[in-house]
Amino acid sequence: CGIIGYIGKSQAVPILLDGLRRLEYRGYDSAGVAIYDGGKIETRKRVGRIANLAELIKQSPPAGTAGISHTRWATHGGVTDENAHPHSDESGQLHLCHNGVIENYNVLKDQLVREGHTFKSQTDTEVLAHLIGKHYDAIGGEPTKGRLVEALRLALKQVVGTYGIVLMHKDLPDVLVGARRGSPLVLGVGKGENFFASDVSAIVAYTRDAIYLKDYDIAALTREEFEISSLLGGASGFEVSKVEFSEEDVNKGDFPHYMLKEIYEQTETIQDAMRGRLSREEATSKLGGLEMTNAELRSVERIILTGCGTASHAAMVGEYIIEELAHVPTEVEFASEFRYRNMPLPKDSLVFVISQSGETADTLAALRESQRKGHRTLGVCNNVASTIARESDGGVYMHAGPEIGVAATKSFTSQVTILTLIGLLLGRIRHMSTTEGLRIIDELEAIPAKVAKILEQTDHIKKIAEKYSGAHSMMFLGRQFNYPVALEGALKMKEISYIHASGHPSAELKHGVIALISADVPSVFIAPDDSVFEKNVSNIEEVRARKGPIISIATEGNTKIEKVSDDVIFIPPCPDFLSPILTSIPLQLLAYHTAVTLGCDVDKPRNLAKSVTVE
Ligand code: G6P
Repeated sequence: CGIIGYIGKSQAVPILLDGLRRLEYRGYDSAGVAIYDGGKIETRKRVGRIANLAELIKQSPPAGTAGISHTRWATHGGVTDENAHPHSDESGQLHLCHNGVIENYNVLKDQLVREGHTFKSQTDTEVLAHLIGKHYDAIGGEPTKGRLVEALRLALKQVVGTYGIVLMHKDLPDVLVGARRGSPLVLGVGKGENFFASDVSAIVAYTRDAIYLKDYDIAALTREEFEISSLLGGASGFEVSKVEFSEEDVNKGDFPHYMLKEIYEQTETIQDAMRGRLSREEATSKLGGLEMTNAELRSVERIILTGCGTASHAAMVGEYIIEELAHVPTEVEFASEFRYRNMPLPKDSLVFVISQSGETADTLAALRESQRKGHRTLGVCNNVASTIARESDGGVYMHAGPEIGVAATKSFTSQVTILTLIGLLLGRIRHMSTTEGLRIIDELEAIPAKVAKILEQTDHIKKIAEKYSGAHSMMFLGRQFNYPVALEGALKMKEISYIHASGHPSAELKHGVIALISADVPSVFIAPDDSVFEKNVSNIEEVRARKGPIISIATEGNTKIEKVSDDVIFIPPCPDFLSPILTSIPLQLLAYHTAVTLGCDVDKPRNLAKSVTVE
């Protein structure tokens, strides 16, 4: 979900709507605003996209220079106008937007109902609004900022769960208050104006000075000032950071969709993931952010890679790469499983949590669980200011720039690039020769130009997409390094085109999956010239024998594959362990063009959100 709050000299509505549009990728099933308009607070809420809310606002626009707003990704309560945020308290004077989940809302709600409160929605957020309002009314006295902050503090002490919240009260036209625990909230510092946002991209057009609030921080804003205190009382330290990226970075330029822009950026972003990190002199990679000596790295006995969604697929590629290059036993676990699992790990285990946003709740929980068990836990994040980046014991940044398309693309190839650098580093301090290290560096450096060659084939891939867009089920098959790519290709297809797709190791076909093959179920084989090419061809034959159409991703110059495939997309040659970076790109384009052909909303697929900050 996305939050933005504004207090300043300008009209709030245009700023909030603009911010919500930028945050829409974080959740988009309903949206709302509350504006301080004269002596009252006006709210407008609407199911659907921000455009629907903007339409509603146009009919009777509230005027005012302070307000809060929200775009929702439903957790508790269906997608209805009533369940959209902001929510208000019993008196209707306090208004609140919330990201996260109040786990004990049922208990709190029962208590409030017994006390005579009535609720308009099914949300946990409305319960929190009532609770804060109750404390505010009970404290009594003059309406002051301190009274509202104190009411919030008392309420949050009763809450179990996660929140990033902003609120305002009719008594206090010059105050916005926010707080966080487990869900991100940023304070944007301007001149005569201040902002709250759940993601800095919402406010980067207005200010580049940001304070990333910490868990248990409470911030109170006026036009001229802000105060940050701790939930437990007393002031809380903070740091004003300069936002690294500009407004331009979060615009889509000439591309029709963010996803396509981000697919095309991969020639740069893969380069950016390696920049300054390769040393020819020592034939290795330099990853200072790990903050570990070679001796410490050499004593690592086991590596765990964890993440969610696309990041977990990158982790699976990483498992093959690290074991191949460094011979260090490596395991992958979904973050959501790892956090609850009692996995026996040797003392010298190193855990990497992989997350583009650095805010995914399950991944953050896996990080904390791993730290609690005493393992050194490192982050591979794109968002430098994120909670995971801050809480990890070190790590490697992706430097890929903002990824807005909900379906992850450039973050995947950056993650795989970084995992290759990790494999190289660990290999070179163990057994790997200088010559081998240098060969890997050469091959890594050659990758961006090869990516560019694949991108040139977008029209060819579009034709293939159009040809198969009528399918209602698709298979993605690969082996070894490209088995996780099959999973990722299927995920992309599902996410944005809604065609059912599943990924499997090619050889697993004959153990069950083959029952699904027929003339109207296309199979995408990821079959570059690698150690298992011939094996893949045998699997292709098995599908052909059942009349299944074949789309192959293969290496340039391979004529054999053309004879057994209906359509082929070629990639330039590369070593086996680097092939996932190349083979994943045609699959991104295939999913993209399929979704466009079907008229789907590529950047904001139904039911999804870019960053899931709830469990
Ligand atoms: C969400 C997104 C996925 C993404 C996953 C992990 O589910 O829809 O595209 O792969 O979160 O995100 P992260 O930011 O942790 O990499």
